[in-house]
Amino acid sequence: MFAPPRVWWRPLDRLERTWLLLAFAWCLVLFIMMPVWLILGRHNVPATTYRAAPAQFQQRVEEFVRQYQVGTEKGIPVVEPPPGDVYLLARQWQWYPILKLKKGQTYRLHVSSIDVQHGFSIQPANLTFQILPEYVYVITLTPLTSGEFSIVCNEFCYIGHHVMVGRILVTD
Ligand code: CUA
Repeated sequence: MFAPPRVWWRPLDRLERTWLLLAFAWCLVLFIMMPVWLILGRHNVPATTYRAAPAQFQQRVEEFVRQYQVGTEKGIPVVEPPPGDVYLLARQWQWYPILKLKKGQTYRLHVSSIDVQHGFSIQPANLTFQILPEYVYVITLTPLTSGEFSIVCNEFCYIGHHVMVGRILVTD
């Protein structure tokens, strides 16, 4: 009978230790950067939220559409509101209405869902928000470039999820 050697593993050599230390240091850097970048990165859009019942929100959006509608595209109203409060409704499987905004003007975009959870993603600007029923997201938005932007739903919302594409038109 003989006992196994006490150190049965291969001790770390210098190279391995250096790599481990480097990897650990990098983990620390990334960990610290998370809160730091939250503030310095300034990529969090200023936004506020409030609660609103879906029916109430829908009513407000319909009122908004009646007030500022300038046309219709494929059955969806095109709305050209003055700077300030603008409304956008998410539902299976549509973004309603189509917004026509002016470059350089500031809008407060109220977005909410009247059924299930949707994902609000402006392309190609790549802004993303989770849109939930009962809650309204108010996104302060100043378009800096003119053109046509797509709103893609990036949260799976059942059978028609892939066709849920809306539009924002920005004019000079
Ligand atoms: Cu709405 Cu996916």
